[in-house]
Amino acid sequence: MGLKEKTSDLKVRMRNALKGGGDKAIEKQKAVGKLTARERILALLDPKSFHEYDLFVEHAAKDFDMDKKYLPGDGVLTGTGTLSGHPVCIYAQDFTVAGGSLGWMHAKKITKIMDHALKLKVPLIGINDSGGARIQEGVNSLAGYGEIFFRNTLASGVIPQISVILGPCAGGAVYSPALTDFVFVVDKISKMFITGPEVIKSVLGEEISMEALGGARVHCETTGNAHFYAESEEQCFSQIKKLASFIPWNNTRKAERFPKKSPKTRQYKIDNIISEDPKEPYDVRDIIKSLTDDSDFLEIMEMFAQNMVIGFGRMNGETVGFVANQPMVLAGVLDVDSSDKAARFIRYCDAFNIPLITLVDLPGYLPGVDQEHAGVIRHGAKVLYAYSEATVPKITLIMRKAYGGGYIAMCSHHLRADFVFAWPTAEIAVMGPEGAANIIFRKEIAHAKDPDKVRQEKVEEYKEKFANPYVAAAYGYIDAVIEPNETRKILIHALEISAEKDVRMPTKKHGIPPF
Ligand code: HXC
Repeated sequence: MGLKEKTSDLKVRMRNALKGGGDKAIEKQKAVGKLTARERILALLDPKSFHEYDLFVEHAAKDFDMDKKYLPGDGVLTGTGTLSGHPVCIYAQDFTVAGGSLGWMHAKKITKIMDHALKLKVPLIGINDSGGARIQEGVNSLAGYGEIFFRNTLASGVIPQISVILGPCAGGAVYSPALTDFVFVVDKISKMFITGPEVIKSVLGEEISMEALGGARVHCETTGNAHFYAESEEQCFSQIKKLASFIPWNNTRKAERFPKKSPKTRQYKIDNIISEDPKEPYDVRDIIKSLTDDSDFLEIMEMFAQNMVIGFGRMNGETVGFVANQPMVLAGVLDVDSSDKAARFIRYCDAFNIPLITLVDLPGYLPGVDQEHAGVIRHGAKVLYAYSEATVPKITLIMRKAYGGGYIAMCSHHLRADFVFAWPTAEIAVMGPEGAANIIFRKEIAHAKDPDKVRQEKVEEYKEKFANPYVAAAYGYIDAVIEPNETRKILIHALEISAEKDVRMPTKKHGIPPF
């Protein structure tokens, strides 16, 4: 065969491989509203940018008649391309080929592209649509997953790792995403579980649908395993592009700068967001939008632990990570879930050179038997650890309440915030005035002729003395008490002055965070 003949032979081979699991399997995939693996990559990446590798990889399994089966590409596509002009490594499991199940060669393709991503220092995107370990390949499939988990861990904090769940993902197919930075799910299409409904039924006798066990909403609202929820695959891909615009391409870089823009101050004006009544809650996301360029804010884990708001915005063109108590939900308390949510995000920002802005308004850690028994001590400690360890610029604004452990935990100077600002409405104390008066003036109140009147007087006395920013400011724990409408200007200056911050932690192999 000469050049021409060999080239047309190559084309025939490629055509065969590109068919995936064949027309019937593709029809089944389409019938449940799913794109094929190839369509997904093409829809996500920049047009014509995808370069595929290892198209001709085949499995070498023999047991259970596997030697008679041809599985094109062994059920996974791998390659490189660009996303909004930036290079990425990508893989997409092909459910039409043996349910996207992971055999040894399938795993080798994934680990090869992971190695590339780590070596080339570019983000890794994994589109998961897989029944998990390929049952016929036994321990080789388990070995494959182990190799992937190891690389996920190596890459953690070095390159961004993004997981997209676009099918029923079981077993190992959910543990790799769990080790990555951001997990995207799509309504009705995404399912994640360690063992599916059938195993649960046979082992425990419990009946549950796939959706109720591990559907997209369950993972966004209840488990906190997923970070972004979309109604369709197309919406999911635009969310990924938006996220990618906020984060740096690896841990040696800063996020791309964008042209500066003013916030939409007509819509988001602090005076209009915060009521004169200190007890009236407000939506802290509106405060964030009053501070960010073009009032743009990409919220992460929007449906989970809503008493804590996290996400990215830009100030003067630079990406910042916001960590904010949400007074509208549980008064913004720190609890088990909100602590986990915040701590992980703080560590993400720190790993990827993204300055942190912390907006504080909380009555403290949530009291109660449930929380104590759920381990609020251990989970709450994660926030203390994450802030203390973070060396990126850390800027804190106390808006209203900062009581007790909440004051310390929400990036106080004591955890090495670079700047702590407070509005005149800030109240910084060991606990709220009512609780405090009841404890320290208990005897006086009990013995008073009119206990309610004395209680109220003591509450006022306590408020006057402690529930303001000036006691903390007198000790230098607050750098400046600022006018609310000056906030953006002051935070931007603090960010600019901190741009070259260079702080090193003591030399150690690694710390032991309260995982
Ligand atoms: C081999 C598999 C497979 C698997 C699916 N298939 N999962 N083949 N190994 N793990 C094949 C099916 O046999 C079928 O092949 C095709 O993929 C499509 O699967 P269906 O069952 O027809 O699809 P659907 O009804 O949509 O159900 C999808 C599913 C279900 C929920 C994922 O297939 C399922 O429960 N699979 C097993 C899940 C599981 O328990 N995996 C092992 C996890 S243990 P044909 O030829 O009929 O088209 C694990 C260990 C690692 O992963 C743990 C690390 C911590």
